[in-house]
Amino acid sequence: MHYERINRLARIANAKRYLEIGVFNGSTFSGVDVDFRVGVDPTFHFDYAAIANDRTHFHPLPSDEFFRTARYEPFDLIFLDGLHTYEQTLRDFISSLAFAHDRTIWLIDDTVPNDSFSALPDQERCYRLRRSIGNGDWSWMGDVFKVVYFIRTMMKFYHFRTFGGHGQTVVWSDPRIVEDFVGTPVAEIGRMSYEDFIETHRETMNLVEDEKIFADVQSFISSSSPASGLMAIFKSRS
Ligand SMILES: C[S@@+](CC[C@H](N)C(=O)[O-])C[C@H]1O[C@@H](n2cnc3c(N)ncnc32)[C@H](O)[C@@H]1O
Repeated sequence: MHYERINRLARIANAKRYLEIGVFNGSTFSGVDVDFRVGVDPTFHFDYAAIANDRTHFHPLPSDEFFRTARYEPFDLIFLDGLHTYEQTLRDFISSLAFAHDRTIWLIDDTVPNDSFSALPDQERCYRLRRSIGNGDWSWMGDVFKVVYFIRTMMKFYHFRTFGGHGQTVVWSDPRIVEDFVGTPVAEIGRMSYEDFIETHRETMNLVEDEKIFADVQSFISSSSPASGLMAIFKSRS
């Protein structure tokens, strides 16, 4: 279950505040063991009002509207699992930076498409094309993988590792300044096909064993203190 991975990250990060973008029927959200939880979805598939309380908030809104209107103290753990397109998930990630602190951990869902259909940004087209050849697979990851390429190219203060399967990428703001420049030119990222992904994902996604990812996040959390993050470095240099 997704929430087991999220709860493991929450324990490592000592998370007290959790944000989930894209909640659907709450199967992950309801299992997340964090004191204060906020869920955002334009179409919740459960009676969210019945379980909302002081420590469990729901916003029946598209994420863009939530980020534009909501005001919250920073979250410790943010799960991005809303609309699975590059454009929307990248916007969700960037918008969520204003709801984060130096030690916030992100988990971005569905970063490893399983075939060329699943990597299409248009969900209906993915299903229509699969059905046209008698393929009954209902998986759809969209082109969320491009967000990871974007972070690698453009946001080099952020480190990331990707869990295998359908791909979940953990991101955190690493205070070390990375001097080398690696990545896919940003103009090319939006045009990437599934085949481009297959050719390049091994060196790009940082796909590693689950336990190595947990250990790396633990090491980051242990080595950083609330005052030692990226902003602290900038402040100390200015
Ligand atoms: C894959 S489901 C989420 C699953 C859920 N996180 C879980 O693990 O059980 C994706 C959800 O994103 C929601 N969604 C679609 N567009 C969205 C948007 N613009 N902002 C927020 N959520 C969105 C859909 O309504 C859907 O419920």
